[in-house]
Amino acid sequence: MYDVVIIGGGPGGYAAGLYAHNFGLSVALVEKDPTVGGTCLLRGCIPAKHWLHTADVFTTVRDAATFGVEAGEPVLDWEAALARKNEVVTGLVRGLTGLLKARKVDVVSGFGRLDGPGKVVVGGEGEQTLEGRNVIVATGSAPRSIPGYPFDGVRIVSSDDALDWEQQPQRVAIIGAGAIGCEFASLLVDLGSEVHLFELLDQIVPGADPAAAQELSKQLSRRGVTIKTGVTVGAAEMKDDSVVVPYGDESVEVDVVLVAVGRAPQTQGVGLETTGAVVERGFIEVDLATMMTAAPGVFAVGDVVAGTPQLAHAGFAEAIAAITFIATGIPAPVDYRAIPLVVYTHPEMAEVGYTEERAREMGFEVETTSHGLTGVGRAKIIGQNRGMVKLVVKKDGPILGASVVGPQAGEIIHELMYAVGWEALPEEAAAFIHAHPTLSEAIGETLLTATGRSLH
Ligand code: NAI
Repeated sequence: MYDVVIIGGGPGGYAAGLYAHNFGLSVALVEKDPTVGGTCLLRGCIPAKHWLHTADVFTTVRDAATFGVEAGEPVLDWEAALARKNEVVTGLVRGLTGLLKARKVDVVSGFGRLDGPGKVVVGGEGEQTLEGRNVIVATGSAPRSIPGYPFDGVRIVSSDDALDWEQQPQRVAIIGAGAIGCEFASLLVDLGSEVHLFELLDQIVPGADPAAAQELSKQLSRRGVTIKTGVTVGAAEMKDDSVVVPYGDESVEVDVVLVAVGRAPQTQGVGLETTGAVVERGFIEVDLATMMTAAPGVFAVGDVVAGTPQLAHAGFAEAIAAITFIATGIPAPVDYRAIPLVVYTHPEMAEVGYTEERAREMGFEVETTSHGLTGVGRAKIIGQNRGMVKLVVKKDGPILGASVVGPQAGEIIHELMYAVGWEALPEEAAAFIHAHPTLSEAIGETLLTATGRSLH
């Protein structure tokens, strides 16, 4: 009998397994893939950011002459880039496997299915049953498609396939301009592909601050991405070597269509119905204070959880919350308010806390302060001084949220994570001095402006 049996070895599941050692809990972790790592490590965050980095290196070399460095025309060796991506993934998987072993987590290979609250049947070669005082379901999510676009892995693909393309597609249509759609649009256009990005709603990255989304959209368009928002695409028309994507009275012919319209929870066949846990449209309902489902002793974390962001780092945090509650009986809920969201496009877009719209919906009276990057010395030096910082502040109160578009936005957002998390007043945060010249100064300047006394 284990203290905890975890189904799923992605960020939610493996983090729960790793964190359990702090309390001396015995853990089994069931994984259906040949290795642990889940979406994030095998076919998500890590490989996607690797491709984005390849694109960054490519454009840095391409534009090197701007900085007085003659490097000639860069040539992309796609095969070598793919090989390095695989090497990075394999290295991280090896490290994670070693860490789980060192923490004495028993990794069991096969498909895990609940058979009542404390029992997990693992299929595959030689079915076995694991018993646990607690079970954590961390089975993650998989790409969704839309009618008229069935995945075939060649002409109509998901991000899973795109991360393993063996050669660069020359003409690509991307359906859905969320994080995945925008990241692929950014890297592909930078590597020289023709890119058409289609979004159903009226802005890219729906849910993000409209001004920030607009800034990102402008920069992607300027680099050559054709962006159509507020459009519905008709069913794909397959030709011998291409696909036609119709929209309105128009259409575009491409080599491949990448569908990035969201990810569906993988809860089918997991046996939740045998436990009393509530599943709504595939997502598992939990008490967010403890991550426990309606079935005592059955927990869920990560992309399968209803109503929380599908982000690896949210999965880590939920795993910590679940394990802490299992070990101590004391709820230690995740503070979802201050979880940053980063879209790793060029330039990056990052947000934390409430957008202006969300804050107003929540009933806050708010003031906003925005600052462009044009005059930020460090941004000018690196030739990337387009972008913005926007702060959302409760009237006579703390910083509620922020959006940043610009180089390293995904790094510098973290100082605003603390500001939002600690409910800092603008004048408290502005009292600290940023080093000069840094990109973070853009935030310092915005904070100063938010106090009513700007500097530059
Ligand atoms: P998403 O939900 O973020 O975006 C999907 C987009 O597709 C939305 O903008 C939606 O309006 C649009 N859409 C839906 N149906 C459509 C249609 N028929 N035609 C055109 N557009 C349509 O989902 P995405 O980008 O697939 O990512 C999945 C999950 O993974 C999200 O929760 C995302 O936040 C997360 N993720 C996060 C990343 C990051 O933090 N950097 C990177 C990649 C994924």
